[in-house]
Amino acid sequence: MKRIVAVIAAFAAVALVTVAAQAQEKGEQIFRQKCTMCHVVKGKGGAIGPELTAVSARLKEKDIRAKLENPKKSNPASSMPTFKTLPTADMEALLSYLKTLK
Ligand code: HEC
Repeated sequence: MKRIVAVIAAFAAVALVTVAAQAQEKGEQIFRQKCTMCHVVKGKGGAIGPELTAVSARLKEKDIRAKLENPKKSNPASSMPTFKTLPTADMEALLSYLKTLK
């Protein structure tokens, strides 16, 4: 019985890691489609906005989320578009990718 529980726990752990990795990968794709033209990450991207290679070392997830939902709130002169209409799953995937940038 203990052995079965251990096997199930191991599968669950692998599944969770896989789900997280998939979200990060999807988030990276979304980033390449919607953000790279203005932001550099790891040497690639546009220079309109600040470099985001280590964005999660500087900003908390809730601040990044706030920036994406309403860029003008923290900077009324911001030229960054809002991503408020991004589907929830895409927003979460994007945030899980941005969390890896530190
Ligand atoms: C049209 C250009 C443009 C696009 C597209 C864009 N941004 Fe920005 N972004 C900016 C500019 C300009 C700033 C700096 C001014 C400001 O604070 O709003 C900025 C600031 C930020 C900041 C705050 C950085 C800091 O150091 O304070 C984050 C986080 C950010 N952008 C994330 C994103 C993400 C994620 C995407 C894609 C979903 C994105 N941006 C798309 C132009 C853009």
